[in-house]
Amino acid sequence: MRLPLPFPLLSLLLLFLPANARRVQHPNLRQTAHMKTRAEEVKRAFVEAFEDYRTFAWGHDEVAPMTQRYSDTRNGWGATIVDSLSTMIVMGLDDLFESTLPFIASIDFTRPKTPGTVSVFETIIRYVGGLLSAYELSGAKHQVLVDQAEVLGHKLALAWTEGRGNGSDGKEPGRTNMPYTWMDFETDKPAVGVVGLATAGTNILEFRSLSRHTSNRTFLALAERAMGAVMGTTQFRPGLYGEMYNPQTDLVVSDKVSFGPNSDSFYEYLIKYAHMTGNAEPVYLQTWLDGVNSAMETMMFKSTVGAWTWLSNWSNRTGHDYMFSHLACYLPGNWLLGARLAHNSTIYARGLEIAESCAHTYAASPTGIGPEAWHYVPAGVTSNLVPHPYAGSKMGEMYDQRGFWVQDARFVLRPEVVESMFYAWRITGDPVWQERVWDAFQAVKKYCKAPAAYASLVTVESTEPAKKDESESFFYAELMKYFYLTFSDPDVINLDRYTITTEAHPLLLETQDFDYGPEPEWVVMGNEEQQPLAPATPTDGCGGPGGTGMGQLMMLMDFYVPALERCSAHQ
Ligand SMILES: *[C@@H]1O[C@H](CO)[C@@H](O)[C@H](O)[C@H]1NC(C)=O
Ligand SMILES: *[C@@H]1O[C@H](CO)[C@@H](O)[C@H](O)[C@H]1NC(C)=O
Ligand SMILES: *[C@@H]1O[C@H](CO)[C@@H](O)[C@H](O)[C@H]1NC(C)=O
Ligand SMILES: *[C@@H]1O[C@H](CO)[C@@H](O)[C@H](O)[C@H]1NC(C)=O
Ligand SMILES: *[C@@H]1O[C@H](CO)[C@@H](O)[C@H](O)[C@H]1NC(C)=O
Repeated sequence: MRLPLPFPLLSLLLLFLPANARRVQHPNLRQTAHMKTRAEEVKRAFVEAFEDYRTFAWGHDEVAPMTQRYSDTRNGWGATIVDSLSTMIVMGLDDLFESTLPFIASIDFTRPKTPGTVSVFETIIRYVGGLLSAYELSGAKHQVLVDQAEVLGHKLALAWTEGRGNGSDGKEPGRTNMPYTWMDFETDKPAVGVVGLATAGTNILEFRSLSRHTSNRTFLALAERAMGAVMGTTQFRPGLYGEMYNPQTDLVVSDKVSFGPNSDSFYEYLIKYAHMTGNAEPVYLQTWLDGVNSAMETMMFKSTVGAWTWLSNWSNRTGHDYMFSHLACYLPGNWLLGARLAHNSTIYARGLEIAESCAHTYAASPTGIGPEAWHYVPAGVTSNLVPHPYAGSKMGEMYDQRGFWVQDARFVLRPEVVESMFYAWRITGDPVWQERVWDAFQAVKKYCKAPAAYASLVTVESTEPAKKDESESFFYAELMKYFYLTFSDPDVINLDRYTITTEAHPLLLETQDFDYGPEPEWVVMGNEEQQPLAPATPTDGCGGPGGTGMGQLMMLMDFYVPALERCSAHQ
């Protein structure tokens, strides 16, 4: 591993990005006066929401939007404040940002303010990522941001302990390669148990930045160890990994492959880390490409109605669940990013199709906001055991109209669909994406605005939806930021200068070079031949040709009872 560039030198270099050093962002973007007005409106909405948080919940993790009280679900360190910092700077709200610094300095990150353990994943992406991004975006002036991130870093580093190695097995005694899921900050010990793919694999952007700013290489070394351990485990297809691991053995304990919860951001970080480092170590990009390729071959389907492109959940043992989720809709934006870096027009085209499909879940919903999770019937799968909704049922009608039927109708102020629309805008330059984001912003304002700030919805299927008394900090970190960046000057968080973490905290790229062949021609869409989605041989729904069936469906009053039959039982 080469040593990271010293930060001041790095910032200088990136200030003078040559005009032709584009790879990711479309070269012809500009901000019209109309978009400027929209950006201002988003900014106003953000400030109003944050002021509500200040009034009712200052210092707590979240405002409780319906009761105008507060909640503490992130250990009580003021998650909304820390998660909002980079959004404030991106929006040019420097005074607001600086007004929070005394609070930031006062947080005691060694001691949770609420009983219970600390989530390694959430703490890294929200707090560590939020602090470091704010440090970089504010010109590396406010050392307190790094100091506080470092306090957390030392505590979280202890999640890589309690290993069973004995030295002669190539493993350091008492150390693990992957972190555990939960840390006890009082005893400084992790809760021994399994760890999800996303927890093991979503820290390398934040820890590389932390190592750079503290000059302590340990953080990056831990993150590299975790990524290396995951990449060394079972691949169910090249680049596709199971959902759960035992950190004492580095063995996979669940063969479920998905791009949804527990797994998503591991895949996301492979390409973003390659981007950050200029592809200094090709294994990350290559693993990402392998996974995309395998996902296209094994897990990508079109719906029989509407031909929307989505992926499945897939297990090598039990076959597919044909469902996709709001969380997994980060994927099209991530594919578009990687397609530009690896100049691959197939990935670009498929990424755009899935972005269209995710956008469709918003456009087709009565509120203009898409649901948390949905089912579809895959085209080209021969098994007659594929779940269908009952013809004539509410879900059957929904499927006939929309090409998906809702499994979970909540909206918890998640960003992923808008996030992918943002990438689609910055990468294709097609203004239709700005219109879609604007529609989503209007819908969120209309349906989620609450007595204090914004609230989650119990269902997006009703135009008089009940609201929940919860308001995640990622509303401020992510959703509002992606709304804003879609209308802002395209040079704000230019995708050729920054990579954006899974919590939407921008971090500086370390180099403008990307070591992967020559700068490609801009991908031109048009008559590009559509590649067949399904493999040449009909699939049985088990992720391979031949065989008999995957699972059985029962539709009882619109309820879906998945997979009774096992693929392997028939092979
Ligand atoms: C670097 O961080 C690690 C992990 O917390 C710590 O054990 C080590 O003492 C630190 N090194 C220095 C030089 O501060
Ligand atoms: C160390 O652990 C490995 C793997 O569990 C085992 O095969 C080996 O016998 C152990 N060595 C000692 C000295 O305990
Ligand atoms: C996938 O399933 C097949 C058939 O059951 C089995 O032979 C193979 O070992 C499995 N692959 C992995 C990586 O577990
Ligand atoms: C698909 O996988 C995700 C992540 O493991 C999970 O949350 C979801 O419930 C799965 N859906 C089905 C139908 O298995
Ligand atoms: C682009 O990606 C697709 C899907 O992974 C792959 O099949 C194809 O070989 C790639 N093309 C190039 C030129 O690398």
